[in-house]
This record gives sequence, C-alpha cells and structure tokens, in this order.
Amino acid sequence: MTVPPSGPVGSTSPSPGTGTTPASSTPPGLTGTAVVGVVGMAVMGRNLARNLARHGHTVALYNRTTARTDEVVAAHGHEGTFVLAPDLASFVDALARPRRVIIMVQAGAGTDAVIDQLVPLLEEGDIVVDGGNAHYTDTRRRERALRAQGLHFVGAGISGGEVGALEGPSIMPGGSVESYAALGPILESIAAEVDGEPCCAHLGPDGAGHFVKMVHNGIEYADMQFIAEAYDLLRGAGLDAEQMAGIFRTWNEGDLDSYLIEVTAEVLSQRDARTGGALVDSIVDAAGQKGTGSWTVQAALELGVPVNAIAESVFARAASSHPELRTAARAALSGPTTGTGSGRSGADREAFVEDVRQTLWSAKVVAYAQGLHLIRVASQTYGWDVDIETVARIWRAGCIIRARLLERIRGEYAANDLVTLLEAPSIRDGLATTQASWRRVVGAAAQAGVPVPGFAAALSYYDTLRAERLPAALIQGQRDYFGAHTYRRVDDDGTFHTRWSADRSEARV
Ligand code: 6PG
Repeated sequence: MTVPPSGPVGSTSPSPGTGTTPASSTPPGLTGTAVVGVVGMAVMGRNLARNLARHGHTVALYNRTTARTDEVVAAHGHEGTFVLAPDLASFVDALARPRRVIIMVQAGAGTDAVIDQLVPLLEEGDIVVDGGNAHYTDTRRRERALRAQGLHFVGAGISGGEVGALEGPSIMPGGSVESYAALGPILESIAAEVDGEPCCAHLGPDGAGHFVKMVHNGIEYADMQFIAEAYDLLRGAGLDAEQMAGIFRTWNEGDLDSYLIEVTAEVLSQRDARTGGALVDSIVDAAGQKGTGSWTVQAALELGVPVNAIAESVFARAASSHPELRTAARAALSGPTTGTGSGRSGADREAFVEDVRQTLWSAKVVAYAQGLHLIRVASQTYGWDVDIETVARIWRAGCIIRARLLERIRGEYAANDLVTLLEAPSIRDGLATTQASWRRVVGAAAQAGVPVPGFAAALSYYDTLRAERLPAALIQGQRDYFGAHTYRRVDDDGTFHTRWSADRSEARV
C-alpha cells in the first residue's frame, strides 16, 4: 500500500507513478503516520526501507530526486505502507514522534548536507540515524552537535550488503540509551536472527556502533586475505579451481563454516564464458578497497593496539595494486618459484590441505582476537562500555563475517572474563592443536617463496603474546642510548638512565 503525500490512502497495490505529484506539505490525514523514515533511495536505503515496510512499519521515503522514490514504490509498493515525500518538510511532517529518520546516503559530506537540512525541521527528542559506513570520529562529532540541539544522533553500522539490508542485516547502533528505547525494537524487527535473537543491539554511546562496524570490516579484510592465502597455497600444491571449490565446500561444513568460505567456493567454481576456464584465472590480481580496513588500522595505531594481521591484509591489497612496483621487483628479485606443493600427491597432498585448513582457522581466530581487543581498548578509552559478548552475538548472522566460530566466541565471552579471545579455554585448546600445522604452513610458504603475510603475521602475534620475554628490552636500551629516553628495571621501581657518553653509570631519573 502506498500513501502519496498529496493523495488518498491507496488500499491495494500502487499504480506506477503514485506519489509523484509534488506537494509542499503532508495533508493533515497523513501527518505523523510513519513510524520511521528513510532518506536516500540508493540500493542500501531502498532495501532497508523495503525491509522495514515488509515488517509492518509505515515508512516515509525521501530522496533528493523524486524519480528514485517513485521507482521504489512502483516496483515494491505492494510490500508494505510507504509515504512518499517530495520534500524534506513533508517527510518530517509524515513522521510520528519521536521522529526516527534513517539517513542512507554516501558517507561523508553527503551525510552532513542531509543533517544540515533536516535539523531545523526536527524537534527535541527526535532521532537521526546514520546507517552508512561513517568514520566513528565523524559520528562522535555529529552526535555532540545534535545533542546540543536536543536531538539524538545514532551512528548505526549495517552489514550484509544489499541482500542483507533487504532480508536481515546485522545492525550495530550506537547513540544514547533513550534513542535505543525508541528505535531498537524497530531495528531489531528487521535484523537477521539466530534462534529468535536479533542481530542488533545497542553497543554504547556516540561512535560505538560505527567503531564496531569499522572493526567488523577490518576483520572482514583479514578473513578474506587468509582465505586468499589458503587458495594460493592450494594452487601451489597443484589443485585447480574446481578442486579448490570442492575443498572450500567441505571446509564450510566444519569449524570454518562461514559466509566468506561459502562465497569463496562460489567464486572458484564459476567458469569464464570467454575462456572456458575458471573465472578467477581471468580476474586481474589487484584488490580494491574503499577504506574501512585502513580506518581500522589507523584507529589501532592511534590507540596503540596491535592488529598486525588486519594491517597485513590491508597492505596486501595495497601491494597487489601497485603494478609498477611489482613489475620492477619481479624483474630484479630471485627466489624459489616452485609453489608449496610441487611434487605433492596422495596422502602428502591431503595432509598439506589439512594443514592449510588448520592454519586458516588459527589465523581467523587471531583476526577476531585482534579486532575484539581493539574494540575493548576503544571502549575503555571513550567510556563506551561495549559488551564483547553482545558484539559476537550480533555478528552471528546477517553480516559479511558471519561464521560458526562466532557462536563459540559468544559463549566464551559469556562464560569468562577475557582480556583476549586467545585465552578462552576452547580457543586456547584449539590453537594448541592447530599450531603445529600453522607453523608447518608458514615455514613451507617461506621456503617456497609464497607470500603469506596474513598467516605469518597472525602467527607472530600468537608467539609475541605468549613470549616470556620480548626483545623490547633491547629497544629500550637503544632508545636510552641515543635519546636518553630512559628505561625501567626488572628488579626495581622507578625510571633509569645510563650515562652512555660519560662513565656509563646508571642514574635514577
Ligand atoms: C558489509 C561490508 C560492506 C563492504 C565494504 C568493504 O558489512 O556489508 O563490510 O560494508 O563490503 O564496503 O568494501 P571494500 O572491500 O571495498 O573496502
């Protein structure tokens, strides 16, 4: 059913073009009838609006050009009740109070422009939601600015792509507790579900939601890089794309069960109509990125949190996308080119495949450990009080990194007070078993000259954290030598400096 702002309430399916008649204000009968409004009818906004309407919510729609809104209603008006607004004033007028406005426009300046136009039309207690991939510092700034005007601003990460937005995404809202009371039930009703539990929860004030979404994407980058490294190793062991697709399908039935493994099998089994070979072999080996992986690493650098496996996954995409660098180096550098498995066959090859599977699981666990630790530190720094169990819970379905492992992670955080995921009993025990494979794979890759930056970084992280004593002591000595930066002693409190250029006696400073 479609409700044009200038016309009567339609009772059945809309006729194309319904609601196109320009109107400068909402007729009195329609004022306050929509429980939620969506601004921006590009694919994510449109699908989210349809999802809301399908769940029985009357949705007001606004887009800068009305043609888009008309298209949505012409094609999908029968899915629920939409109120079309030709301008922002009638859009705002159509909303029940407190008004709930979800902005789904290009992150950045576009979001600020919509906010600037909306704010003068809103009233105290109204809620503005940014459902884009905004940087959390922008969200913090916007939240502060709107709070000063008596409005709620909610940065809500939404994951799951176009299909997720329509059929049930994972939603990660931040913002005030009051805003969640008014908004949460609506968002929860359209989110993905696991055993009746929605993949949506209030994560904390101001930028908490967008921070968690950003880290989700950092983990997504790492997970994709690890899978790509596994593919590269299997390829080097002589397996073709179809065989690898079969292996990934089998892996998807066990501990590695995840959306990204499923996607991998789909991509590997796709044939190329032009060549008749595997499509993957026709795709240029240069990975793109829109920036959220880099944001995760930047945030980690600013907060001083080690996320080296995530960082390597961002750098691996960067390295792949510098053809001139690769061409120059390829011409100059020597090294093995035999692949990790030349000559492997039968049981030996099967054992190698199993080693790669265990390596993939180990590295994946490290990516989650790094991402969740980053969220923990950010939460402490910004006073967000993000509950990590809740994060794992709402990532179990709907989002790109959804995986069977998240159920286990959730359970571990529910049962234990963890500084790091790696100390969780079942994870710790799992890694104790898989690490032999992990070391063999990283070693074999190094010997064979196959780059595994993600697997190797994850293993270094594991070994760094479990080391009794790190070489950082030497670095402190070096810093003190050339910069008098001082050091602490293992056997005394306080700070010390050695007079390196004088008599080399030690002073307490
Ligand atoms: C999601 C995805 C989505 C997306 C990013 C990453 O959660 O639905 O993370 O946000 O895939 O745009 O894209 P890039 O790989 O282009 O950075």
